[in-house]
Amino acid sequence: MDVIVMPTAAAAAKLTAQIIADAINAKPNFKLGLATGRTMEPVYANLAKLNKANKVDFSRVTTFNLDEYVWPKKAKKYEANKDSYRYYMNYHLFNKINIDIRNTNVPDGSCDDVDAAAIEYDNAIAECGGLDIQLLGIGRSGHIGFNEPLSSFSSRTRAVTLTQTTYGQNSPLFDNPEDMPMQAVTMGVGTILEAKRLVFLATMKEKADIVAKAIEGPVTSMISATAMQMHEDVVCILDKDAASKLEGLKEYEWSFKHNPRWAAYQKFK
Ligand code: F6R
Repeated sequence: MDVIVMPTAAAAAKLTAQIIADAINAKPNFKLGLATGRTMEPVYANLAKLNKANKVDFSRVTTFNLDEYVWPKKAKKYEANKDSYRYYMNYHLFNKINIDIRNTNVPDGSCDDVDAAAIEYDNAIAECGGLDIQLLGIGRSGHIGFNEPLSSFSSRTRAVTLTQTTYGQNSPLFDNPEDMPMQAVTMGVGTILEAKRLVFLATMKEKADIVAKAIEGPVTSMISATAMQMHEDVVCILDKDAASKLEGLKEYEWSFKHNPRWAAYQKFK
């Protein structure tokens, strides 16, 4: 695992976008796993900017999002449902880049058989050859995707019940906080670990404790993000606030500076 600490949240998002853009440029039919949430908004703004400047081409890219809420039958269709992750993705990224919208996938949380659709989702990822990069954020509960504490490390895409912690984290984002569903569909920890590379981004002081546990703490299903420690190709990009509780901070800074893999990215510091 590599840990890169940037001076600001904006710099961390810019670096994250550049790493993704460079990977796409090296493999145009890229399979990209995406995340939603506040942390990712500046990443998508940067990717849209790079696309507009012809510095990355999404025309052959296929995307799979980590998660979506399970919507009650009366909820509006995704395109009109501002609280849905499909809406988020269209708004923050897909409508701003040259991607073919038919190549964008978000788990289906409004169909009649959410469980069957979840299995199909995993199959679709496997059929296209697996994800080249999975982008990850972290929730206050330590979740990646919506894999709440005690999610099995071999779990697959499935419906889950969200914790009170996550309800507290996300319900303020809804126009009417009580509209936040208690269930969601999420890629499993096992599905995530199958991606060829994990790119993890966390910013802000409020994430410092959980980030330290995720990166340096014992591997435990109580904190799904600790599963990243079992993956062979992970980069964790943090701003200095989110990194502030890491014990090995100085060593990570040293490694970033001297690891040839990151030579081209020193200028982002
Ligand atoms: C959402 C997702 C979640 C978020 C996490 C952090 O697709 O994967 O794990 O990354 O809840 O959300 P923010 O960035 O809003 O703090």
